[in-house]
Amino acid sequence: MKLELQNVHFSYRTRYQTTEVLKGVDCVFSEGQVYGIIGKSGSGKSTVLSLMAGLMLPQTGSVLLDGADTRKLNLETYRREKVAVVYQSFRLLPLLTVEENVMYPMELRGMKRKQAQRLARDYLRQVDLPEQTWRRFPATLSGGEQQRVGIARALGTESRLLLADEPTGNLDFENSAQIIGILKRLAREQGYCVVIVTHDVDVMDELDVIYRMRDGRLVDQREAHVV
Ligand SMILES: Nc1ncnc2c1ncn2[C@@H]1O[C@H](COP(=O)(O)OP(=O)(O)OP(=O)(O)O)[C@@H](O)[C@H]1O
Ligand SMILES: [Mg+2]
Repeated sequence: MKLELQNVHFSYRTRYQTTEVLKGVDCVFSEGQVYGIIGKSGSGKSTVLSLMAGLMLPQTGSVLLDGADTRKLNLETYRREKVAVVYQSFRLLPLLTVEENVMYPMELRGMKRKQAQRLARDYLRQVDLPEQTWRRFPATLSGGEQQRVGIARALGTESRLLLADEPTGNLDFENSAQIIGILKRLAREQGYCVVIVTHDVDVMDELDVIYRMRDGRLVDQREAHVV
């Protein structure tokens, strides 16, 4: 699996103003790796993630999943089957149990309830959530537990592409470390490509590759210091 951004430009346009955010992003994300995207507030990190998630399309340039341009794919299928996003605020459905939250996207894809349940339980085990939590509602879980439900729900995408926008932003040090540990394990053991937007220096230390958003482009952090 390879996700590639080629000369991606993106502006938000309203009737009154145009905000140019991305000015030629070139970047490659591969399976089995954990990537970090860092940069100032408002620099375009979430925008890049939205383009990778197929929530928006670039005005110029391409987002390619294994060579297939998101512009030419059915975006609804892409969002449902190829990619999943984990958010800082968890975004679980409050009236569904933990297990039902994880089953939900699979059922949307047309999977039978029994099979969705079997897979959901498998994913919940992978993020170390004990069986006692499965039938509870999200509001009764701690923040760290809720985020693990968010990750379980994001598993099972066909291309094993997992995007996370500040996944540890609402968590303390210990819970953050656990979440990053789980994401790294998914990359190492199951070949997920994990992309994490983060401000957290402790998180950055744990990642394989760090890209910094600067002047509308993504630059490799290791090269960022060279001139
Ligand atoms: N829907 C929108 N309409 C207009 N402008 C937007 C919209 N969404 C984002 N922007 C603007 O685009 C720029 C980039 O926003 P983005 O959310 O990608 O930044 P970010 O790097 O994720 O910031 P943060 O670290 O604060 O989350 C900002 O200037 C923001 O105000
Ligand atoms: Mg953001």
